[in-house]
Amino acid sequence: QVAAASGHTVVLVDQSDEILKKSTKGIEESLKRVTKKKFADKPEAGAEFIKKTMENLTTSTDAASVVHSTDLVIEAIVENLEVKNELFKRLDKFAPEHTIFASNTSSLQITKMANATTRQDRFGGLHFFNPVPMMKLVEVIKTPMTSQKTFESLMDFSKAVGKSPVSCKDTPGFIVNRLLVPYMMEAVRLFERGDASKEDIDVAMKLGAGYPMGPFELLDYVGLDTSKYIIDGWHALEPSNPLFAPSPLLNKLVEEKKLGKKTGEGFYKYK
Ligand code: 3HC
Repeated sequence: QVAAASGHTVVLVDQSDEILKKSTKGIEESLKRVTKKKFADKPEAGAEFIKKTMENLTTSTDAASVVHSTDLVIEAIVENLEVKNELFKRLDKFAPEHTIFASNTSSLQITKMANATTRQDRFGGLHFFNPVPMMKLVEVIKTPMTSQKTFESLMDFSKAVGKSPVSCKDTPGFIVNRLLVPYMMEAVRLFERGDASKEDIDVAMKLGAGYPMGPFELLDYVGLDTSKYIIDGWHALEPSNPLFAPSPLLNKLVEEKKLGKKTGEGFYKYK
């Protein structure tokens, strides 16, 4: 959405036409919200902006057939290293020499993905934040193998889509999630111990620390499955780090498919 809205030609790839239809509808709805603000007193310019953005966007279920003409591939599939590596390995065969591969992973090592391809120097991380149309940050991740030219291209692309990039080494959680995820997990532990209610913890962090959402609202917004993938991955890397300890309550909610806002229930109910 943000790439198309800033004049780039984008092909959105997913597993089925049904998912792509849902995604396209979501983008249209989000564009309407952006437009309502950006073109508050110019509805015609707003309609033109939506039309142009949607014209820049096409969809496909066949990544291999579209990758031959792309300059940049941004992967944002399931947080599973084997699945990601399999995809990158396949795309590496079909993409032109100059194409840069980037992962939007929240917590997995970019170096491991780059090593699944033959383009380690043209591989980096581009980590966006929910909701991407609103959040101004992108973390640009440079592995020891990422070339300076690739790094600069990723920084330039981030600016071209209207974001403020920061750079970080290929370390667990990069900057934001390395601080944010342990904070959210500490909030769950505080609640699990019965020290305060989740409602009070959320109010406290909004009114006492100026956060736009409390930790439980944010966990529901990000998705409890995503949060669990992150914490489980880090726990496997550093089992003795108490900040990375899994939470029985989070595990229970994920097992019950209460994944947050997207399923209608997480820590809170949204129906
Ligand atoms: N698309 C377009 N515009 C949107 C939007 C979206 N998806 N979501 C919100 N907006 C805009 C709209 O203009 C909306 O007004 P509208 O309701 O009239 O359309 C306006 O924001 C205000 O939205 P809300 O009234 O729903 O609520 P807020 O004022 O609280 O703002 C928020 C929403 C920007 C999401 C704010 O609550 C916030 O900044 N929350 C924290 C988000 C955060 O921390 N994100 C990082 C998560 S970590 C992550 O993503 C990393 C990953 O790896 C896990």
